[in-house]
Amino acid sequence: MGVAFRPTRALREHAYFAGAWRGSSDGASIAVTCPATGAHIGEVPRLTQEDTALAIEVAATAFVDWSARTAAQRAQVLRRWHALILREREALAQILTLEQGKPLAESRAEIDISAAYVEWFAEEGRRVYGDVIPSPVGGRQTIVTKQPVGVTCAITPWNFPASMVTRKLAPALAAGCTMLVKPAERTPFIALALAELAEEAGMPPGVLSVLTGKSREIVKVLTDSPVVRKLSFTGSTAVGKDLIRQCADTVKRMSMELGGNAPIIVFDDADIEAALDGLMALKFRNAGQTCVCANRIFVQRGIFEQFAEAFVQRVRALKIGAGDQPGVEIGPLINADAAQDMGRIVARALEQGAELLTGGAPKPDSAFYPPTVLGGVTPSMDVARDEIFGPIAPLLVFDDETEVVAQANDTPYGLASYLYTRDLARAWRVSDALQYGMVGINEVAISNEVAPFGGVKESGFGREGSRYGIEEYLDIKYRCMGGLSA
Ligand code: SIN
Repeated sequence: MGVAFRPTRALREHAYFAGAWRGSSDGASIAVTCPATGAHIGEVPRLTQEDTALAIEVAATAFVDWSARTAAQRAQVLRRWHALILREREALAQILTLEQGKPLAESRAEIDISAAYVEWFAEEGRRVYGDVIPSPVGGRQTIVTKQPVGVTCAITPWNFPASMVTRKLAPALAAGCTMLVKPAERTPFIALALAELAEEAGMPPGVLSVLTGKSREIVKVLTDSPVVRKLSFTGSTAVGKDLIRQCADTVKRMSMELGGNAPIIVFDDADIEAALDGLMALKFRNAGQTCVCANRIFVQRGIFEQFAEAFVQRVRALKIGAGDQPGVEIGPLINADAAQDMGRIVARALEQGAELLTGGAPKPDSAFYPPTVLGGVTPSMDVARDEIFGPIAPLLVFDDETEVVAQANDTPYGLASYLYTRDLARAWRVSDALQYGMVGINEVAISNEVAPFGGVKESGFGREGSRYGIEEYLDIKYRCMGGLSA
């Protein structure tokens, strides 16, 4: 077992709930390891059902004061939090790389976008407007206002353990809700560090909680509670479906950001260099562990050979290693099991007739998996149907626009999609026909604080970021005022 580097900021080995930093009431904890080295990096409390129930109770009490503050007062706290996240940027990036594995440059970018969500929603909270609707009847006013939904909870993933926390927390808190965050078991330290900074920024006790431990012990208490009025989840479609069922009895509001099977379509008329740049960034960001990264790479026949050859050359040049090492472009996967899964995906693809163009030779017992390109992939192969979540790039050849749009849409998922073409009419036509919540046209960097992130079909519902993101934490109240005739 290797040795993990030490971040400059100490890891907080307590959970944050019921207004304080606490251990589990039964003293249990769980270990967190570094994906790059396998080294033990710390312990966090394994909270019990009783701890979770206490956290909910205190969040409900805190909601009374927090929701009664003006949006401007809440914005002040959020802006201070934003400034502190940026002050601690380097230390936070180190914690992120240590527990998640991604290269430091990517961790810094994730801290920047995490801070950007906080700043954006501090501002959006002040723009929660209502309506006055002309009444069909004299002597009446029809007035629409918006109110925070109440106590909310978020279940966040390990692939973006900082930005997925602030993308949910910032709109919830700006709207006047309180929120209980259950971070992924493998990456709790960055969520705890963000909570420490929120506390330093003046976030009142109980407004924000970070519940560490096992999902099976915490989540059911959250979903069963009639006090918790909203659940926001980012993760797999299978788990999302389970959570939807669990929330049915209390009829909670939900946002579900689930799995993807993103197509990227490169037409003959595309700027090939731009498409290659985009594909490299898209496919290998976070070692392919993103729900918006290219899962199926459709390239038109006229440029296929040239494109595939240039792509393979670029992939062979990628530098792989521990995320804290200079120049590293691809870190480990989240753990050795994930690397084993990649091995199985490639083996199955080869069995089904795909061709290995590069990569595909994993080290045993390691979380590292080489970036891999597969040629000769057809839409019916498992590698083109299932979400890969790793650095495997399947290339598919196509002939015409109608055929490729049908293939791109032939999936239960509908999160992100991408296309490269210089033909403006085609860009509009194809992006219209793609059954996805997001379409990148000659661009892959689609995720930012001003844009509505989210999917359709089995990729979920609800939007995060943008002016739409705060609506997920607001209920509409309609008041009909009568008796106003002179
Ligand atoms: C993801 O949820 O996997 C992607 C997050 C992002 O690109 O913002």
